[in-house]
Amino acid sequence: MDKFVVSGGATLDGEVPISGAKNAALPILAASLLSPEPLQLANLPDLRDVHTMLHLLRILGARVNGSAPGRTSVSLEDPESFSAPYELVRTMRASLLVLGPLLGRFGRADVSLPGGCAIGARPVDIHVNALRTMGAEVEIRGGYISARCCGLKGARIDLPLPTVTGTENILMAAVLAEGETVIENAAREPEVRDLADCLNAMGAKVSGAGGSRISVRGVKELHGASRAILPDRIEAGTYLVAGAMTGGRVVARFNGELALGEVVGALRNTGAKVRRGEGFVELDMRGRRPHSVNLVTAPWPGFPTDMQAQFTALNAIASEHALVRESVFEQRFMHVAELKRMGADIEPLGREVLIRGVRKLQAAPVMATDLRASASLVLAALVAEGETVIHRVYHVDRGYERIEEKLNDLGADIRRV
Ligand code: UD1
Repeated sequence: MDKFVVSGGATLDGEVPISGAKNAALPILAASLLSPEPLQLANLPDLRDVHTMLHLLRILGARVNGSAPGRTSVSLEDPESFSAPYELVRTMRASLLVLGPLLGRFGRADVSLPGGCAIGARPVDIHVNALRTMGAEVEIRGGYISARCCGLKGARIDLPLPTVTGTENILMAAVLAEGETVIENAAREPEVRDLADCLNAMGAKVSGAGGSRISVRGVKELHGASRAILPDRIEAGTYLVAGAMTGGRVVARFNGELALGEVVGALRNTGAKVRRGEGFVELDMRGRRPHSVNLVTAPWPGFPTDMQAQFTALNAIASEHALVRESVFEQRFMHVAELKRMGADIEPLGREVLIRGVRKLQAAPVMATDLRASASLVLAALVAEGETVIHRVYHVDRGYERIEEKLNDLGADIRRV
């Protein structure tokens, strides 16, 4: 298993290219199951999770062709299987995203339950109940969600929580259903809108995505399309936090629209100068120590839970005290124990943590536990005194393309061993 050896102390300075968004790529790849014609994708990130999804699509019978790095075409004419096996789903919960399209197009899907997860219970009840409301018979047996239908029917679905992949699964189930589906309290994340745009490019009739009420008028079939994946707002945010923590200057460059939302305000509250322009965001901390920032995570347009761990690392070395509240996932503070091993002063208070900034962190052996937690350990290691060894970096590789190379290009000193 790969490790990172990080020598702390560098001030980051330079430009970093932002890859396609993992959370946009995964549902859009699943959407390729909805049409026999190819879905051609550009700006597909080279990530472990993307390879897991492509592997799953191949198991289902899809043809996957890559013409150039980041360019892939996927089509499914005749399925070879309707089942997402445990071995894949347990490594990537987003495998659940094949449930909606398989059921909508073929009337049949068996998807393993994701099982335990490092960031809380993460149930699937909302996905399952919505598909039942649309007329599917869904049973949980042998550790699998087993869903069957003879054509789904449009329905009104009130989500108890604006679940992101839940909204995406329902959308993909609804595009080929008979009649109209209305999703109330839908997730509003930019990646949901990107999926809806992709489905519409394939001939679907989706309106309102990006808002909390999405309507879908079912059509008979979808066709192929060509799309570029959105840039990754979480990856960009992570490098900008790295710039702020090291007192440096980082310019994130991207193609397309980068929706940073509340992250920009939070970065400005650290005392950094943040400038946005066509295709770039620049953060300049001008050699200063960041101020602490209080945060409460919330579904979009709130502060993203996927940036909480990175800002917790920033607060660990900031100049005052901060309260960070996690309101999306319980137990998403796995990084706290590891940051404390590096000398952070963090007091857990239920779903909140109180962080008293210290001047310096110290290098220590630490363990990555989930994707964003591991990103926060990389950030902490960049500013720690000495050489930090981060174990189990496969968690980082799930969602960051060549993170050590990109950070080294900015002046960091990270070795993969
Ligand atoms: C997606 C993102 C993940 C991000 C999260 C929240 C992808 C591939 N992953 O995950 O990076 O951290 O959104 O922004 O896009 N819930 C239920 N029942 C359900 C489904 C969800 O109770 O059936 C709860 C969850 O436990 C959680 C909340 O809803 O408390 C939000 O989770 P959800 O939006 O579903 O997260 P994911 O879609 O899994």
